[in-house]
Amino acid sequence: MDAAGPPARIVVTRRPPGRSLDILGAAGEVVVWDREAIMPRDRLLAAVADADGLYAMLTDAIDEQLLAAAPRLRVVSSMAVGVDNVDLAACTRRGIPVGHTPGVLAATVADTAIGLLLASARRIVEGADYVRAGRWRSWQPDLLMGRDVHHATVGIVGLGGVGAELAKRLHGFDCTVIAYNRSRDERRESALGVTWRPLDELLAVADHVVLTIAMTEDTRHLLDRRTLALMKPTATLVNVSRGGVVDQVALAEALTDGTIASAALDVTDPEPISPDDPLLRLPNCLVIPHLGSSSQRTRAAMAELAARNLVLGLEGRPLEACANPEVYAS
Ligand code: DGY
Repeated sequence: MDAAGPPARIVVTRRPPGRSLDILGAAGEVVVWDREAIMPRDRLLAAVADADGLYAMLTDAIDEQLLAAAPRLRVVSSMAVGVDNVDLAACTRRGIPVGHTPGVLAATVADTAIGLLLASARRIVEGADYVRAGRWRSWQPDLLMGRDVHHATVGIVGLGGVGAELAKRLHGFDCTVIAYNRSRDERRESALGVTWRPLDELLAVADHVVLTIAMTEDTRHLLDRRTLALMKPTATLVNVSRGGVVDQVALAEALTDGTIASAALDVTDPEPISPDDPLLRLPNCLVIPHLGSSSQRTRAAMAELAARNLVLGLEGRPLEACANPEVYAS
């Protein structure tokens, strides 16, 4: 609470897990959009009119329009590591720090990537559907044969926190791990036992490819018709970053014509994916609803880190994890 004057007003766009609301409640007056749905844009714009802090989800667009509607706003805190929904430059121009949640979710998202890779390459969900549909008649020597993950060469696109955790796990499967990252850090690559390759080369050499790269204008449709065609016809593509990194029309074609063998997507563009999307009709495409970081412990840790970020911002102190640190230079 501010030393003098009315309590800070904090808008929370979705009920977060863990102790986060207690943390926020100790710092001001909290208004929570307490529904099982995204806060409608008009309600959000009205709610931020007198807000000092905004605790947002990755589904909220934090853009010029919103910032203009929030003249008192002193901090934005997003309960996510990815901040592609936030106009960081606009926040920086207004002197508003943006909190996010790196680190605490990397291991959990890497676990999800491993789960998706195994499920897709080894056709586990196809197998479960087969049994559920009553089609299992006998053991069969060639039933739903998949492609191995162990001893495979796996390409990680994006060697941030999630990519690093994924590399560690893949070594447990005796994989050869190669990685593409725009900026090089040879010490880190060697500590992770990873060999850097240019993107096109990685796609051509890898038996399987996992996307963990942040979504930016530069990485939109990084996997498109041209780059998918570089991959092996036996390859599985896993995406745990953002849906926009993959051109989904090109992916549906690649999965249909055998350019690649299978795909597993934690994220889509848009979210939710339309129930009529061609990808959902393909047996070699597995889609889950953005569950990458969704373990009880990790979502609570993300929510609490986001709450601490918000409180620090209200206090005018540096955030624990700030997505636009340049704001402190201005
Ligand atoms: C993030 O934090 O960006 C993740 O995608 C949430 O699951």
